[in-house]
Amino acid sequence: ADALRIGIAGLGTVGASLVRILTERRDSLATTCGRPIEVVAVTARDRAKDRGIALADDIWFADAGALAADAEMDVFVELMGGAGDPAYSAVKTALARGIHVVTANKALLASHGIELAGIAEKHGALLNYEAAVAGGIPVIKALRESMTGNTIARVYGIMNGTCNYILTKMEKEGLSFEACLKEAQRLGYAEADPAFDIEGNDTAHKLAILTSLAFGTAIAADDIYLEGITNISIEDIQAASDLGYRIKLLGVAQRTDSGGIEQRVHPTMVPFDSVIAQVDGVTNAVAIESDILGELLMVGPGAGGNATASAVLGDIADIAKSRPGAQHVPAFGRPVAALIPYTRAQIQ
Ligand code: NDP
Ligand code: HSE
Repeated sequence: ADALRIGIAGLGTVGASLVRILTERRDSLATTCGRPIEVVAVTARDRAKDRGIALADDIWFADAGALAADAEMDVFVELMGGAGDPAYSAVKTALARGIHVVTANKALLASHGIELAGIAEKHGALLNYEAAVAGGIPVIKALRESMTGNTIARVYGIMNGTCNYILTKMEKEGLSFEACLKEAQRLGYAEADPAFDIEGNDTAHKLAILTSLAFGTAIAADDIYLEGITNISIEDIQAASDLGYRIKLLGVAQRTDSGGIEQRVHPTMVPFDSVIAQVDGVTNAVAIESDILGELLMVGPGAGGNATASAVLGDIADIAKSRPGAQHVPAFGRPVAALIPYTRAQIQ
């Protein structure tokens, strides 16, 4: 069968892991997907950087815009990050060519997700983004596909590996906030600008995406009450512990009695004996409360090259396995025209 041709913009923590896995598992992936997956185009900022991966010279493009506009590919994989350009324009360009897009970029989706979903729909392209929320945990597929038909009351959890890693290390090893953050950066968990992690914005981006999927509403990232972990001290963690609690940065979205939706991100005291309290390090946990299924709790690696590349690869494999002309899964679970206007709850 014809190879699935992919172009990758961004060869950092996630992109380089993805290329390594695609290279090492080429044969087994060809068997699983029914066709080989071929990297036919790449770009990054610094072409001379040693990334520990072998890439032919002739597949390099000068920049993401050129790759999105000109590469002969079936899938554009955006792994650069950032809500604005070049990611935003490059994704739009690829979708407008009818090229499927796979991205891990929650900042981009939180700002422009519905617009991008509309362009994808118009041009018969898929917009897949499993890696954008909770790293390797398949929460997008759960909400977008598996739980179709459920009415969801609440979705909440630990959605930022960097913050959970910092809070865990501070509590269990008594290390300073700064030392823990440095280590999270070294391990490839943090955003290019780690302020997005520790000030809660990254959790808010992820929550905004989950809210849309859970409640069928347009994304409303600006309507999230937001508080990060920068003011949490070892003394706070110790005081919570003395009372039988751990401090976790949670994202919570729920229906309210008044028919609205409440979205919030803030450090929360959770009792020791709750499952969420036992989630340590870079691990994430997402709980979904629904009427047919009941309560689903998914726990797993929330950041890092391999965990994230695993989710990106799953999205690519879904496209490789899809049949030409098959009905596409809408990016946010329902066609853009069927999204419900977001109704804000009165948050006191
Ligand atoms: P990195 O910073 O490690 O890599 C970013 C890559 O994009 C680099 O290769 C960089 O080039 C390239 N890049 C950046 N700006 C440009 C530009 N203007 N033009 C061309 N290339 C550019 O990021 P990550 O791999 O960690 O993250 C990638 C995406 O995945 C982000 O959206 C992030 O939020 C998301 N994500 C990351 C996770 C993680 O654990 N790391 C988990 C889940 C999602 P160069 O190498 O030359 O500098
Ligand atoms: N910086 C993010 C985190 C990456 O720490 O969770 C995964 O989205």
